[in-house]
Amino acid sequence: MSFFATRASREMRAREGHDFSRADRSPNNPIPSGLQPARNLQFTCSQQRVAIFIALLCTSILATAQQPTLKQAYDGCFVVGAALNPSQFTEKNEKESALVKAQFNSTTPENVLKWEAIHPQLDSYNFAPADQYVDFGQKNHMFIIGHTLVWHHQTPKWVFEDEKGNPVSRKVLLKRMHDHITTVVGRYRGRVKGWDVVNEVIDEDGSLRKSPWFNIIGPDYIEKAFEYAHKADPQAQLYYNDYNLETEAKRKGALELVKKLKAKHVPITGVGLQDHVNLDGPSPDEINAAIDDFGKLSMKVMITELDVTVLPWPTPQQTADPSVRVASNPKLNPYPDGLPDSVQQQLAKRYGDLFHAYASHCGVVTRVTLWGVSDKSSWRNGWPIPGRTDYPLLFDRNDEPKPAFNAVIEAAPKKP
Ligand code: GLA
Repeated sequence: MSFFATRASREMRAREGHDFSRADRSPNNPIPSGLQPARNLQFTCSQQRVAIFIALLCTSILATAQQPTLKQAYDGCFVVGAALNPSQFTEKNEKESALVKAQFNSTTPENVLKWEAIHPQLDSYNFAPADQYVDFGQKNHMFIIGHTLVWHHQTPKWVFEDEKGNPVSRKVLLKRMHDHITTVVGRYRGRVKGWDVVNEVIDEDGSLRKSPWFNIIGPDYIEKAFEYAHKADPQAQLYYNDYNLETEAKRKGALELVKKLKAKHVPITGVGLQDHVNLDGPSPDEINAAIDDFGKLSMKVMITELDVTVLPWPTPQQTADPSVRVASNPKLNPYPDGLPDSVQQQLAKRYGDLFHAYASHCGVVTRVTLWGVSDKSSWRNGWPIPGRTDYPLLFDRNDEPKPAFNAVIEAAPKKP
């Protein structure tokens, strides 16, 4: 049964206390006075049951219709997005595409704009899936995000190597980066509104990550990436996106980076906090502090990849590094057959608290994007341990809204 239906029937039961009161009914007639037929009409028992069923159905439909959608609830504060896979943006998965259209007003592609997907070989691009993604976004008036131009994961090895497998020179790598950014951003100029230009460039200790980009080009690869993207689409918003930006050392490094870029007039417009979080952390205070810090540097702040795992975390340090892998172990997969109600409620509270924190920065936070649509296809089921059953999003495995959805709606700023 859907959450709405459950809620509707709960509301219905509550109403029964009044409308179906003993005083209202004769011993032989279970229909309350509001539903009583005119005196001269006689209804059979089965007709009466049908009438009750229709009344219940109408109440349920009304409850669903009255519930605002995510995009309606946060209208005027920030856009609410989802990361999409091809089955959703090609509308093959009709149910989830309909859900996306109804609930969200921004989209991010899970994979199709990553280097390995769109530019698998030196001289060949694969635009078809990304074109479909952008078409879907435009057709449905979404704020379309491009993710991501420069990253150390999901980038083919050839990008960093010559034909003999040796590292390429700074000059060659800069040219490859330039050509990639110019081609991809140029193709979607004016349609993709914001780009994650560089992804995950700071390490946990706050230093610049020693990725092949850094090692071959040097620290200025970041400003070059922003400059190339700006040249390819001067109107697009350009972001630095990363995880764990709520932790002290990493945030300090990220703030220094943004200050340096601004001092050099590099065209950066925003910072993305990925927020692949768990039930306990980071705390709303840590999130508020991170948003404030980047906001003070006049950055737009976006929550770009939100999901909340309910599963035990298997390593000493929290991370969202996709290269972390841990062997499966049934003890680390406690809810294969469903989420206990107590954890469901914890998840709802956590989501409510998170959105409350984000909404307290309306205007600085311009977008909150969930990393996926429903629990069924979330990457969390397979990372960092394969084959687990996680419940990290707002819609369940049948695409029905969870209590967490309701908590998010309730956390929205009240409209005057
Ligand atoms: C990182 C990346 C995303 C995605 C997620 C999880 O955070 O930025 O593109 O790959 O990991 O899948």
